[in-house]
Parts: sequence; C-alpha cells; structure tokens
Amino acid sequence: MKNLILVGAPGSGKGTQANMLKNLGFIHISTGDLLRSEVLTGSDLGKEIDSLISRGELVSDSVVGELLSKNLDLNNHHYIFDGYPRNKSQAKILKNILNDREYLVVYLKSDLGRIKGRIVNRRLAPGSGEIYNLLTKPPLKSGVCDVSGEALVHREDDQVEVVDRRFKLFVESRDSILSYFGHDSVIEVNADNSPEFVFDEIVKNCIK
Ligand code: AP5
Ligand code: MG
Repeated sequence: MKNLILVGAPGSGKGTQANMLKNLGFIHISTGDLLRSEVLTGSDLGKEIDSLISRGELVSDSVVGELLSKNLDLNNHHYIFDGYPRNKSQAKILKNILNDREYLVVYLKSDLGRIKGRIVNRRLAPGSGEIYNLLTKPPLKSGVCDVSGEALVHREDDQVEVVDRRFKLFVESRDSILSYFGHDSVIEVNADNSPEFVFDEIVKNCIK
C-alpha cells in the first residue's frame, strides 16, 4: 500500500473520498481539519488561523508543516494527505517528510463552476468527520449527524465570495504541485462523477 496525496479544488471531494478510503486501512490527515481544531482551542495562533481561513487565504507553510509533522506516524501507518500540499514549497516539504516511502498523487479534476454548488450546500459534523450535502447527501434528520448525533455546521469559509478566492489560489498553484511530483506519480480522476465512481477509480488505479 502507498501513501495517497489528494490534490483537488475546494469541493472536489477530497474529504469525501478520504472518508471512504480510510475503511481500507489508511489514516486520513486533513490540514484543514487540523487548523480548524486549533481555531477551536481559542489560542492566539488559533485566532490568527481563523482570520486567514475565513478570508480564504493560506496559513503559513511553517505553521501548517508543524501541525502536520506533530500528527504523523509514518513508520506505522499509511496516510491519505487531504489539503496538503497547497503549493510547491509544501510539496517539497512533504517529499522530505515521506523520505523514501512510496506515495501516489491523486488529482481530483473537476469543473470549478459545477462544484461551487456542492460547497454552498455542504454541512459538516466536526466530531465524527462526516460530510453531508443538503441536495445530494442529506442527513436522515435535518441538522444532525447520522453517526454521532451532533449538530451539523456550515463552514464560515463556504460563503460564495470566499470560495472564489479559494478557487483562485488553487488554480494558481495546481500545475506547480502536479509537475513537482511528475507524471509517473500522478493519477488523474474525473471528480465530476458520483462519489462511488470516483472511489472505484482511485481504488482501481492506486490500491495494488
Ligand atoms: P480545507 O479544509 O482543506 O478545504 P479545501 O481544500 O478548500 O477543500 P474542501 O474541504 O472545501 O473540499 P473537499 O475537496 O474536501 O470536498 P468535500 O469532500 O468536503 O482547507 C480550508 C482552509 O484551511 C484553506 O482555505 C486554508 O485557509 C487552510 N488550509 C488548509 N490546508 C492548508 C495548507 N496545507 N496550507 C495552508 N493553508 C491551509 O465535498 C464537498 C461537498 O461536495 C460535500 O457536500 C460532499 O457531500 C459533496 N461531494 C463530494 N464529492 C462529491 C461528488 N463526487 N459528487 C457530488 N457531490 C460530492
Ligand atoms: Mg475537505
């Protein structure tokens, strides 16, 4: 089994796929989730992070790199990296962290116009990590997680104008990330298909 690095625009389905793939034995690590957890502590660092996330800006490479490293145990687990790397310098950091361990990059290619609607209708359960969509994957009971019973939240950076900024940053860095890893390490999957289709494509290409 190889470590998987999911690269895709906001709303392309990184979290959704990671939740499905972790049943195969991976550990899901999302830098967005790690940063949101730091915000919830109310620390000074958390306040700084909150201000950046709510404007759709990236948090500094050093802060994210430290949070990531603290939460990895690469000798004992295979990971799905969700939301990391976000630029070429993070790609270099990740390659160093992985050292000579095997990895594959999965590029979730998607039509940005289409996936904007997904984000606006997304609702999250922060505790269980379950991801819902009011249109395509609603919870059984409105506003409540099926798994944990906790209240669902609407991310503050899921407002349309912030999503535009997040898309722009993704488009600016996407090619440099993919070319840094090189064609032989990148699998491209059409993420405009259903979650089940995307999952099957990833498994077919990556899990050997
Ligand atoms: P992060 O939390 O990583 O957000 P993101 O990359 O913008 O991606 P999203 O979580 O919005 O989308 P997703 O691809 O996970 O889609 P999901 O599966 O939920 O980062 C947030 C912020 O933190 C950043 O903007 C930045 O400020 C900061 N940050 C994070 N990492 C950083 C880093 N490395 N460096 C610096 N700053 C960093 O799906 C979306 C919706 O679509 C859901 O409702 C879902 O049900 C639905 N859906 C999913 N797949 C499908 C499908 N195939 N068909 C139909 N609907 C689908
Ligand atoms: Mg996500």
